[in-house]
Amino acid sequence: MSILVSGGAGYIGSHTVLCLLEQGYEVVVFDNLSNSYEESLKRVEKITGKKVKFYKADMCDAEALDKIFSENPEIDSVIHFAGLKAVAVSVSEPIEYYKNNIGGTLTLIEAMKAHNVKNIIFSSSATVYGMPKELPITESSPKGVCTNPYGWTKWMIEQILTDVHTADPEWNVILLRYFNPVGAHSSGLIGEDPQGVPNNLTPYIAQVAVGRRPHLNVNGNDYNTPDGTGVRDYIHVVDLAEGHIKALEKMAALKGEVKIYNLGTGKGSSVFDVLHAFERACGRELPYVIAPRRPGDADACWADPSLAEKELGWKAKYNLDDMCRDAWNWQSKNPYGFAGKKD
Ligand code: NAD
Ligand code: UFG
Repeated sequence: MSILVSGGAGYIGSHTVLCLLEQGYEVVVFDNLSNSYEESLKRVEKITGKKVKFYKADMCDAEALDKIFSENPEIDSVIHFAGLKAVAVSVSEPIEYYKNNIGGTLTLIEAMKAHNVKNIIFSSSATVYGMPKELPITESSPKGVCTNPYGWTKWMIEQILTDVHTADPEWNVILLRYFNPVGAHSSGLIGEDPQGVPNNLTPYIAQVAVGRRPHLNVNGNDYNTPDGTGVRDYIHVVDLAEGHIKALEKMAALKGEVKIYNLGTGKGSSVFDVLHAFERACGRELPYVIAPRRPGDADACWADPSLAEKELGWKAKYNLDDMCRDAWNWQSKNPYGFAGKKD
């Protein structure tokens, strides 16, 4: 029995592949490397002392997927990370996002069907809740109106997988709705390595700390939150990776079901909370300016993660200081990421 990991060279994928190998799973990875480097998997091999079976392949390429399943008939389940995730680019390039994320997922599901693999764990997102109407957000909180095409791809793929299960109830589908993944493996050998200017808060702060950017832009200080800046539920990527192991264990006991779990800590932190935690991690004050709000940003968003605790036996272990310490360890050891080159 082995696990196929789509997008396994990426940020969350590489941390999950590491966890899977440490837990003794057989793993096959494919990734088209559009937003990652194969070096991440070389580093996973270095940490674990195990080989990673890797295919450079695109999930929109039906022949390539057929080859992967044919050469690895022991594949039993898929953890599906592959996808484009830059919110702003999805607004300017919606066709590319729908084609890649939705078209690619349909191609992957067809290949799974052809090879009789009916177990899938999908990387969904808190973005499917839209502007949260209640806090904390539970899995039964209504799905909302997404504010960008990226969010809609998550929303629609959840629906597609649910419909696939309805048509063939043998399918087991687990939709994991991540909140805000941050941090890195404690080795500092793998971590988040965004291309170009980071969209997300912690990689941006990390690049300020390492001297690649002059200051943080705090996007709005007039939100309806205690210090006026946006509040989110940051979760350590290693906790998140472990959530996938627990989901796989759960899947083995399912008898044709669709399950949905929030993966968050249940605690909200503001932009200033994160900035100050990062300052503690790197040992100096970091410059910032107050900038305009980003369109579509919610005031606050955090999870009720109690269902995952009850049904998966999973609970986040790390706090914000741990996340920033590990993000800084990664960034300071790899100031220019896996490529090691100035941008
Ligand atoms: P990432 O960009 O580091 O990883 C995604 C990987 O998918 C990359 O390695 C990329 O090269 C690969 N990929 C993209 N299109 C592909 C294709 N057509 N064929 C094969 N590979 C392809 O992103 P991540 O942060 O690790 O996110 C993993 C998943 O989790 C994504 O689906 C993302 O949308 C979702 N997610 C991420 C966050 C977050 O804040 N990081 C939050 C919620 C959900
Ligand atoms: N922020 C800044 N400055 C920055 C970047 C972000 O002040 O340079 C603020 C934002 O306004 C927000 C908070 O920091 O208040 C977090 O922003 P991120 O971009 O890090 O995260 P988001 O909550 O906006 O979105 C992330 C992913 C989405 C995903 C969502 C929920 O980017 O893909 O978490 O999982 F859908």
